[in-house]
Amino acid sequence: MKSEAELQLNGDGALRHLLTLKGLDKALLVSLLDEAEGYLKPEGAKPARSDALKGRTIGNLFFEPSTRTRASFDLAGKRLGADVLNLDVNTSSRKKGESILDTIYTLEAMAVDVMVVRDASDGVPAFIARNVKDFVSVLNAGESDASHPTQGLLDLLTIRQHKADFGNLVVAIVGDIQHSRVARSAAHGLETLSVGELRLVSPPAMAPDSDDFAFARVVDNLDDGLRDADVVMALRIQRERIGNLDGVPGIDEYFANYGISEERLELARSDAIVMHPGPMNRGIEIEGTVADGPRSVITEQVTNGVAVRMAVLEHIARSMS
Ligand code: CP
Repeated sequence: MKSEAELQLNGDGALRHLLTLKGLDKALLVSLLDEAEGYLKPEGAKPARSDALKGRTIGNLFFEPSTRTRASFDLAGKRLGADVLNLDVNTSSRKKGESILDTIYTLEAMAVDVMVVRDASDGVPAFIARNVKDFVSVLNAGESDASHPTQGLLDLLTIRQHKADFGNLVVAIVGDIQHSRVARSAAHGLETLSVGELRLVSPPAMAPDSDDFAFARVVDNLDDGLRDADVVMALRIQRERIGNLDGVPGIDEYFANYGISEERLELARSDAIVMHPGPMNRGIEIEGTVADGPRSVITEQVTNGVAVRMAVLEHIARSMS
């Protein structure tokens, strides 16, 4: 059986699906970032548009909550001229016991060309990709704790805009690493771009536990993790994916030991940027004044999310017949 990295490519080495950043060719990854950059406009200007997906239909199938990813795929599709179907999973027939494949076959029969899928279970986007007809592409919009490739791309784009040379960068990801698909996809991309150093800082109950992070340096102490960092990425505690909350610190203890506060941030480089994928819990993983402060690039990440999703959709549309 093909790996996800193989499954997502067509015979020409271009993306047919986007399932993971793990194993994605560096030239392809960089070209997606370049294409996304081309969709960015100055703040207040009318957003970029094209008709690259005119006549195509995108189905957003979010079987987990989302604000940013779902809204940005919706906007990205519309700005490329596609019809966009936002399936309301709470009123869909999956609530009556319909299988995911029957839902997919139903949408195929309505000529949905691109299925954007978020699901709490591991492997669902790849499972769908293995079962769709040749004309359908599947985009992973967040898969359990395993993968969130478009989030990874938007994070890489945001870092690249502020810090030119990945090889000299120290990136610190702080928080619930173990349950974070955002951290995994960031790590996949940063490894491909040969980041200088990736530091992972978390409480023991949320420490990295997979080989996705094998190249990173695990740091116990927040001060050590932040010292001279160029990029600081705070993560939300993914309570929905933590089976046993034993050992998970309370809010005050968590903020005291792992919260990104103005005081703690002084340890990072003076030009360090602060990132957060959202949704944020202010006062737990990040101080509100840091989230809104001059080093925060959190809203830029959101803006870049639309551009990245346009670039991915446009790339996939090129190989549609
Ligand atoms: N970062 C992210 O995936 O946010 P949403 O859950 O709002 O889509």
